[in-house]
Amino acid sequence: MTQPVPQPALPSRPARLTTLPAWKALEAHHQQTVSLHLRELFAADAERGERLSLEAAGLYLDYSKNLVADETLALLLQLARETGVEARRDAMFTGERINTTEDRAVLHTALRAPRGSEVLLDGHDVVPDVHQVLDRMSVFVEQVRARTWLGHTGKPIINVVNIGIGGSDLGPVMACRALEFYSDRQLTLRFVSNVDGSEFVEAVRDLNPEETLFIVSSKTFTTQETMANAQSARAWSLDALKDEAAVARHFVAVSTNADAVQAFGIDAASTFGFWDWVGGRYSLTSAIGLSLMLAVGPQHYFDLLAGFHDMDEHFRTAPLEQNMPVLMALIGLWHTDFLGAQTLAVLPYDHYLSQFPAYLQQLDMESNGKHVTLTGEAVDYQTGPVIWGQPGTNGQHAFYQLIHQGTRLIPCDFIGFIQTLNPLGGPLGHHHDLLMANVFAQTEALAFGKTLEQVLAEGVPGGLAPHRVFEGNRPTNTLLADRLTPRVLGALIALYEHKVFVQGAVWNINSFDQWGVELGKVLAGRIVPELSVRAEPELSHDSSTNALVRRYRAGRGS
Ligand code: F6P
Repeated sequence: MTQPVPQPALPSRPARLTTLPAWKALEAHHQQTVSLHLRELFAADAERGERLSLEAAGLYLDYSKNLVADETLALLLQLARETGVEARRDAMFTGERINTTEDRAVLHTALRAPRGSEVLLDGHDVVPDVHQVLDRMSVFVEQVRARTWLGHTGKPIINVVNIGIGGSDLGPVMACRALEFYSDRQLTLRFVSNVDGSEFVEAVRDLNPEETLFIVSSKTFTTQETMANAQSARAWSLDALKDEAAVARHFVAVSTNADAVQAFGIDAASTFGFWDWVGGRYSLTSAIGLSLMLAVGPQHYFDLLAGFHDMDEHFRTAPLEQNMPVLMALIGLWHTDFLGAQTLAVLPYDHYLSQFPAYLQQLDMESNGKHVTLTGEAVDYQTGPVIWGQPGTNGQHAFYQLIHQGTRLIPCDFIGFIQTLNPLGGPLGHHHDLLMANVFAQTEALAFGKTLEQVLAEGVPGGLAPHRVFEGNRPTNTLLADRLTPRVLGALIALYEHKVFVQGAVWNINSFDQWGVELGKVLAGRIVPELSVRAEPELSHDSSTNALVRRYRAGRGS
């Protein structure tokens, strides 16, 4: 494993974030505007709803229903400038080693650079390398989709199981669901991530090993969960196929660790590589997207990459004032650091985006769940929020009550589409109009609420009236696109990638390492042998952990 070599790639900050003039000005501004209501902001400016909106890469963002005055936005943009967001963005795009604790460049944007463009890393153009892998993936995918990739016994592969976890799972799971409309319905696609054996057993229960291909997806090819599942998959296959040679037809790998892949028994011809400058949670557009390409075919996959690139270019070139990821990041930072919001709810009003919040949890929380700055000092401000959510309208009948009338401030991102992929009408109206009416109604209700006067004017009895009051002033973004296409999905994902980047840049943290997941991994490795009934009875953890291990061991022994 690479030892971290701290090498700050950029000049360190001249001052702590909280001492910067823009931060101080934002604190003062917050005091002055603490009682400001969205009702007043909208009443004072008839154009606000259109003025505070922006279009880029096929996405329309309405950010007018956030608790921001023009001065708030100006100060937030000043903060972005004082914290060197533009220089940091340029450093990322040009391959500087901005992931200082792992001494790595952060070049996922090169994964979607068009053929023929140039992205230099230490003087080497990585774009041809990227496209060479994409070409190999396309050839393989076409064979499987044409049913000419045959299993060991000569039957075509019709089932694909991706084995991976975290960034080697969440992106493909989310995108395969998001683009299901465009997928080959004759190909069964499953995902196994959890080390809980039940997931593997249920995933393969109805599959024929002769027709099943496993993609072992792991950047490091050392991750405990993935290796355990890959070994079980191998045993499951070979149990039926009875020949080691079958591995070549039933297993492919996606990894940066060619040696470990080979040691597992998958040869180089069936290995799709990527590079250490692609972070796990930023790897969907690397070969980690192989399962997605199998599902939707190369052309749709390339459209997805084009959408990512559209947003990359917008982020790289648009002035901060008109830069969608920058504005979303700064407004989010205002909620987190000045208004005290702890979470962000992401609420896609599209069935196909059901896994988008789960995907964003890793993207955002693994990136910006950090407590020290790039130079290792403890931060004295809040960093990444808790990300959560699920598709509308289901959430409206579950947790929206708390968003509307609870005591916490919960900013929300609403995501919807103008055209549905599945037009369906009925006596109550067009399903899609019903769906989208809920998007618009929710953001309206959250912003403007209902006053006591309004409630009483409706004739609600006095005792009941307080229960019927909606304070409003709940901030929301609304993202609208024409329709959920691969290209739009690419732009949407890249929007959030860059939003997370900008917040990390302002917070002066490393958004590209994940040391926080290490301790649990190490301790689990230590506990595994202790769970054996034949293990030494002596345990040296704390009394709680010792008691839990003993109880488990005793239960297993009996
Ligand atoms: O959760 C930690 C992590 O390292 C993620 O960053 C990564 O996406 C995941 O584990 C899987 O890692 P790998 O692709 O190396 O198996």
